[in-house]
Amino acid sequence: QKHKVVVTRKLIAEAQNLLNTVPGLEVVQWPSEQPCERSWLLEHAKGAAGILLMLSDKCDEELVSKAGDQLKVIASFSVGIDHVDRKALKERHIRLGFTPTCLTDAVADLTVMLILMAQRRGGEAMGKVLAGEWPQMPWHPLLMTGPQIRGCTVGFLGFGRIAQATLKRLLPFGIKRAIYLTSKPGKPIKELEDQPGLATEAVGSIEQLAAESDVVIVGCPLTPDTKHIVNADFFSRMKKTAVLINIARGPVVDTDALVAALDGGQIFGAGLDVIENEPNIQADHPLLKQPRCVLMPHIGSATIETREDMAIESVKNLLAGLKGEAMVNEYEL
Ligand code: GLV
Ligand code: GLV
Repeated sequence: QKHKVVVTRKLIAEAQNLLNTVPGLEVVQWPSEQPCERSWLLEHAKGAAGILLMLSDKCDEELVSKAGDQLKVIASFSVGIDHVDRKALKERHIRLGFTPTCLTDAVADLTVMLILMAQRRGGEAMGKVLAGEWPQMPWHPLLMTGPQIRGCTVGFLGFGRIAQATLKRLLPFGIKRAIYLTSKPGKPIKELEDQPGLATEAVGSIEQLAAESDVVIVGCPLTPDTKHIVNADFFSRMKKTAVLINIARGPVVDTDALVAALDGGQIFGAGLDVIENEPNIQADHPLLKQPRCVLMPHIGSATIETREDMAIESVKNLLAGLKGEAMVNEYEL
């Protein structure tokens, strides 16, 4: 009996070969680099035993019921799974694969980039050069100055893999203190605890994290509980010299409140890889008028190596789900 699988994007060659060489598999694949159309997905899901999808493809009640009872596995090409209705999967005993480990380094690298860009005004400075404004701003002692990372208290909202990998990268910069708030029990990895000259500790409240951090890093999953947890109240508690970094999901941060905080000088700057309503961000978006806000188009995991790994891992998860074998990474529903 042939298994039908639906794949919502073209994959890199190695992952594609892996998929194409499995005997007894009927692969139905969205034929372009562009996001898969919802109507196409719903139409082709019918009869599928597995679906490999991206974070831009909603996996909800409608999709899984359209697919039918033979659906065994969803393999998401992502670490975040807020686009997946886990309850709908659990009820039907559908397994969920995701790629939470292979992208940790790439996203942590980008997080460091965003911190430095936000503090050192990287986007603003280069923007002036690109606009031909350098002749009007000759070198002077206070030109484009921003806060220094050495001595900072770095506050992590969410302290999972990416946050901890980011903290490791920050150690050589001489940060003074790392504080974190997490919904997950457990302690940070030993090597982070034993760093001479660095205090790492959990804080008791989000208010404390806001007030004491020079750098706030949003790295928690998006859930009903974390939506807009960084809001006007949070910004009102932050230091005027602090920066906000978001590498998680846009809706964790209230965009209007962020714009107001930047406008009012409540914080120094922001570095974002994600934003509410992405990718529909037009040139007239209020955040783009904020020179102290660096915004990247959700490229956290976008290294060549990591995207290859994610593709291969997604295919492996898909195939394991079909065969009832262990996945590389399975989300416990
Ligand atoms: C990226 O945001 C991912 O969830 O993989
Ligand atoms: C996840 O990052 C968490 O710590 O809640």
